[in-house]
Amino acid sequence: MAKFRLPANSIVRKGRYYAAAGASRGGRIRRFVVYRYDAAAGGNPRTDTYEVDLDDCGPMVLDALIKIKNETDSTLAFRRSCREGICGSCSMNICGRNTLACTRAISDVRGDVRVFPLPHLPVIRDLVPDLTHFYAQYASIKPWMRTQTPPPPDRERLQSVEDRDKLDGLEECILCACCSTSCPSYWWNGDRYLGPAILLQAYRWIADSRDEAAGERLDEIEDPFKLYRCHTIMNCADACPKGLNPAKAIAEIKKLLVARRF
Ligand code: SF4
Ligand code: SF4
Ligand code: FES
Repeated sequence: MAKFRLPANSIVRKGRYYAAAGASRGGRIRRFVVYRYDAAAGGNPRTDTYEVDLDDCGPMVLDALIKIKNETDSTLAFRRSCREGICGSCSMNICGRNTLACTRAISDVRGDVRVFPLPHLPVIRDLVPDLTHFYAQYASIKPWMRTQTPPPPDRERLQSVEDRDKLDGLEECILCACCSTSCPSYWWNGDRYLGPAILLQAYRWIADSRDEAAGERLDEIEDPFKLYRCHTIMNCADACPKGLNPAKAIAEIKKLLVARRF
């Protein structure tokens, strides 16, 4: 039966307020309103508010989260690794935009810095979403080079400069999932629609001149749900913190599927 109300335990309640030690010394104080939830404990999610003295903090939102965890509240959970926009671990929703916390400058945010997990994914804890399904979808496109011919005996498989250039705009993807979790089609049909990140990765292998399984790859994703749930809404290109355009990669796949019919 259709449900027209959110379940009572989905309501986000107001949580604790943590004042900054630097406030009384006249530091540059910003408030970080952070989503808190523990799936193992159950109960309602809440937002805790942390004051951070920016005179004693790095410039990025991730710096503030690390400072909060180190100095104020060690229970706060989030993912991060490289702090350089390379690993894709620290993707989250900051003031309504999916992005990387390590490349989002605090100075670019007006007012309170509102930090939530990536939307429309189950939350394991606080800012840590469950990406199991996303990675299973990634595995489903077989993201490795597939060949039938033996490699040259004395060197690796080479590629012309022109063929290598075709991977620009694709190979930079860090699988942060900012695009897929900003895509309305993925919100509604994420169980079967592969979404922009995985389709961009699929095209990355289809476009690789060294790969010999383009036909099979196209067969595998030619599906009303896996591919054709993309309606060119373009949220994905707007969300990508690496400036990539998954919608264009999806359009290239569709063009190849049309071209091979003739
Ligand atoms: S262009 Fe396609 S993949 Fe990108 S947000 Fe829109 S529907 Fe989703
Ligand atoms: S295309 Fe961009 S937003 Fe999407 S997973 Fe790759 S890097 Fe992240
Ligand atoms: S910590 Fe690696 S991308 Fe942000």
